[in-house]
Amino acid sequence: MRTLPPGKSRSLKFSFFLSLPLWGCGGPQSMFESAAPPEQQVIHYWWILLGVSLFVFVILMGALAFALIRNRNKDDLAKRDRFLTKGIGWASVATVVLLFASIVSLYQLPEPKIDRGPPALTVQVTGKLWWWKVKYYSEKGQFLFETANEIYLPAGKRVRFELLSEDVIHSLWIPKVSGKIDMIPGHTNYLWVEVEKPGKYRAQCAEYCGLQHAKMAFWVHAVSQDQFKDWVQMQRAPAKPPQDPLSQEGKRVYVEAGCIRCHSIRKDLTLLNPELAGPDLTHLASRGTLGAGSVPNNRGFLAAWVADSQGIKPGNLMPAFPLKSEKFNALIHYLESLK
Ligand code: CUA
Repeated sequence: MRTLPPGKSRSLKFSFFLSLPLWGCGGPQSMFESAAPPEQQVIHYWWILLGVSLFVFVILMGALAFALIRNRNKDDLAKRDRFLTKGIGWASVATVVLLFASIVSLYQLPEPKIDRGPPALTVQVTGKLWWWKVKYYSEKGQFLFETANEIYLPAGKRVRFELLSEDVIHSLWIPKVSGKIDMIPGHTNYLWVEVEKPGKYRAQCAEYCGLQHAKMAFWVHAVSQDQFKDWVQMQRAPAKPPQDPLSQEGKRVYVEAGCIRCHSIRKDLTLLNPELAGPDLTHLASRGTLGAGSVPNNRGFLAAWVADSQGIKPGNLMPAFPLKSEKFNALIHYLESLK
């Protein structure tokens, strides 16, 4: 291996650490480009506070440097006293500025005002090790359907998230949309969201919950009202019966191999005890990722996941399925048909 000269490697390390604070400034989880109005307000205040703090910091450091340089090697006690007075004066100015900033921000804390009126939609998200169970409820509180690891929202509509956990503490965080809120076993937390801009936003579990905490993610799709209606209609529909002999064989394998012990496919392959289950697979093929944001949902990764999901996400509850190649092929074909 080629090694860098010590000076160069030191400066590389230094620039690496310098760049660390900038990593949060861009990308799919940036907190600086919000798609929801209340968040935009928070970002606005954040910039103001950063400006004020930087101003105070620069002034104080400048004064300190000036005092250090100017008073070097001087034994004049009277002069030193005068400098001390000046120093206290500057520190008081800084204190007043910072106090003012904190009083203003305290006053602004009740803002941004989030309207907690009747929601257009309730999305119940339950944290599991390490994925997200999702249930949709209508405006009137009527249960609509269950899905997993992907959320669609109507842009411009007020949505209430009902957050639960069935095992350990997780935390729902959609950085471009809202602050994070913990999901606590035995307790319901609420999060109100109104996404202004249609788009695709990444969500991540933000409370360390074990081995695969990092691979506990999902995508939130904010879409137009019409697109949302179509999506809900598609999700509420039962799975299409297998159309060709290979899918029919795949469905048989699904039952035989024991997939049905943990995963539901509406309507005919539902579980007796859905609370113990893994993700609902009724419309698996319509989702963008597998394993809660771990890998893209395509034929290759789907086959790899079924054959040995532990290779992709070690520690998850799904065992490997060593099937004969014809049966395996039929099963994957069937799963891919669940649009
Ligand atoms: Cu769930 Cu971290």
